[in-house]
Amino acid sequence: GLMSSIKGIHTMEEKLKKQFGLDEVTIVHGDSDQSSWVKKELGKACANSIKQRLLAKNIIAVTGGTTTLEAAEAMTADFAGDKEVVFVPARGGLGEDLVNQANSIVAKMAARTGNKHRLLYAPDQISRETHASILKEPAIKEVLQLIKSSTLVLHGVGEAITMAKRRNTPEEEFQKIKEKKAVAEAFGYYFNEEGQIVHRVSTIGLQPDDLASAHDVLAVAGGASKGKAIRSYLRGAPKTTVLITDEAAAQQLLAEN
Ligand code: G3H
Repeated sequence: GLMSSIKGIHTMEEKLKKQFGLDEVTIVHGDSDQSSWVKKELGKACANSIKQRLLAKNIIAVTGGTTTLEAAEAMTADFAGDKEVVFVPARGGLGEDLVNQANSIVAKMAARTGNKHRLLYAPDQISRETHASILKEPAIKEVLQLIKSSTLVLHGVGEAITMAKRRNTPEEEFQKIKEKKAVAEAFGYYFNEEGQIVHRVSTIGLQPDDLASAHDVLAVAGGASKGKAIRSYLRGAPKTTVLITDEAAAQQLLAEN
C-alpha cells in the first residue's frame, strides 16, 4: 500500500545517506528513464529543496541538462518571496542543444520566479588562447565572480558516454574520455569509477573547488541507467552534497553494496 511504499522510500534515503556519508537524500517514486513525469517530479523536488534553503541573499548557479530544465519548469512566482535571488549559469557552453543549456535554464528560472539572472556568453570547446582572452573580458569576469560566490549550486549528473555523444564532442576528446574510462559527468567534468576527474570540457565557469564554498550543493539525477554514474560521482563529491534522485537509481545505488 501507499504507507509501506512511503516507508520504503524513507528507508532507502537513510541507507543512501549512510552509504555515501551525505547530508541529505531525497528520492521520488519511479524511474525517469521510463516515464517523463518522474523527471518532472525530480524537478519539483529540486525547486522545493532550493526554496527551503534560501538565504536572505542568494546566488544560485545551475548547470544545463534535461533534469535541471524540469527544476526550472517547476518553479513558480512564490519561489523567493522577499529574498534576493540571482540565477547564474554554472559553466559556459558545453555543446548542448539550446533548450538544455545552462543559459536558457537560468533565464527560464528568472522569468518563472520573477528574479534576476545573468548569462555567460562563452563559446563551446574553446581553444587555450581564446580561453585566456575571454577571461579578461570585464562582462565575463563579473559573471565568473558571481559563480565563484554562489550560495547554492544545482547540478545534474550524467552517464559519461551518453553526455559526450549528446554534446557532439570532438573525436579526439571523445577517445580520451573513453580511454580514461570515464563513467560520470557533472558540470562539464568527467569522472572515473573512483570519482576522480579524468577530463574537463574546455569552457569557463564553475570549478570543483567552488563547491566547497557554496552553502548548499544539490546534485540531481535519476533513472536506472545513471546508477553507476551517480555512484562514481558521489565517491569523489563533497560530503555536503544533497542528492535528489528517483527510486530506480536509488535501487541501483543500493544494489551492489
Ligand atoms: O549536464 C548534464 C547532466 O550532467 C546530465 O544531463 O539531466 O539531461 O541527464 P541530464
